[in-house]
Amino acid sequence: MVREKWGTKLGFMLAAMGSAVGLGNIWRFSFVAGNSGGGAFLLLYLTFVILLGVPLLLAEVSIGRKAESDVVGSFKKLAPNTPWYLTGFFGIASSFLILSFYAVVAGWAIFYFWNYLNGSYFSSPEVGYEGAFGQFISHSWHPIAWTALFMILTIIIVLSGVKKGIEAANKIFMPLLALILIGLAFFSLSLDGASEGVKFLFQPDWTALSDPSIYIAALGQAFFSLSLGMGAMLTYGSYLRKENKLPSAALGIGIMDTFFAVISGLVIFPAVFAFGIDSSSGPPLVFITLPSIFEQMPMGGIVGLVFFFALILASLSSSVSILEVPTAYFMRILGWTRFATSVVMGAIMFVMGIGVSLGFGIWSGVTPIGDLNILDSMDYIASNILLPLGGLSMALLIGWYFSKSEALEATDFTGSGIGQVWYYLVKFVAPVMIILIFLNKLGVI
Ligand code: PHE
Repeated sequence: MVREKWGTKLGFMLAAMGSAVGLGNIWRFSFVAGNSGGGAFLLLYLTFVILLGVPLLLAEVSIGRKAESDVVGSFKKLAPNTPWYLTGFFGIASSFLILSFYAVVAGWAIFYFWNYLNGSYFSSPEVGYEGAFGQFISHSWHPIAWTALFMILTIIIVLSGVKKGIEAANKIFMPLLALILIGLAFFSLSLDGASEGVKFLFQPDWTALSDPSIYIAALGQAFFSLSLGMGAMLTYGSYLRKENKLPSAALGIGIMDTFFAVISGLVIFPAVFAFGIDSSSGPPLVFITLPSIFEQMPMGGIVGLVFFFALILASLSSSVSILEVPTAYFMRILGWTRFATSVVMGAIMFVMGIGVSLGFGIWSGVTPIGDLNILDSMDYIASNILLPLGGLSMALLIGWYFSKSEALEATDFTGSGIGQVWYYLVKFVAPVMIILIFLNKLGVI
């Protein structure tokens, strides 16, 4: 079977940006930043994006483009008879963990969209937004039904193929999302009390840096947000043609992703302070803040409708990249069609998602790690541990297994000065930083 290819380089760029920009920028970024001290967190996150994120993104895409295979196949091809291919299995495990909670949260977004559509969120529900959200997520099957709907949409795009499904959808979703978010940020900044939120986001409280958890949280957020370390970008890279140049693409994706994170911070935090919401309220944060903002706005009902529509699009453009990872692998290994593979993988993830959703209802006492509920535990293992380990392994492959000239050639950096800087970042800086952050978290240093 001939492997598929992107139609154009722009198509790849949009798909990769679509993968990067998603719930990670809006939902995950705001609650992790809210929990970890705001400004200090933002600064660390930006440092990691620049020093590690973008260089590793380039490394990951180049591995896929060079090998023209899925996450496991690429490592087997480029580093035969070494254990490097295990990175691929880590990636596949991460894809199951991540999509099963991602689909639950995206399902919440569809529920909100529906509530704006039928008018019930145009004015505050009797129990307030916090109460309404609590009632909804703890219901035995309502949230599960919305998760199912989201999974079905994801599967439909993936089974339609790389060009006709993923590429076509992203061409529409991404520009629309940018317009809506920028408009919202202007509004949120005009609220009374907005400056407190801007301060929280941009005036670092340095004492937050003494807690080792903030480093691993910022590292995990950088990986999650850039879709790094799992093989999503690798798989997307494998559908690229050789003539598409990589460094500019990686930089563009990194800039877009950071832009969306900062803009959503500018939407959320002014409102958090303007409405006196607790900035460390965790995963529900945006689902409580945003409706409160919309209620204060002229025509807020329409804005809410459009916003949640955009959030669904952003989530879909990311979820397809997550589902594509096991789909590409199992299609090749089992010889199944794209159709059958994506349906079966999506169905397994959905079943896992049921467990995640019940974690807010009858299983709310289940805390697999420390006091973290099911969603937070899966997120912690995948984003803070598996993704950075995947990134570490990719950095070691490019920096230490490849020769320098091979590494520069694979990334279209031959003869470039910036290429030298990139190479040392990937070879030394990224691995050392990842290892130090792990050791620090483990209390070894
Ligand atoms: N980057 C996506 C987001 O921010 C999530 C994602 C993580 C996608 C890992 C692919 C791989 O929403």
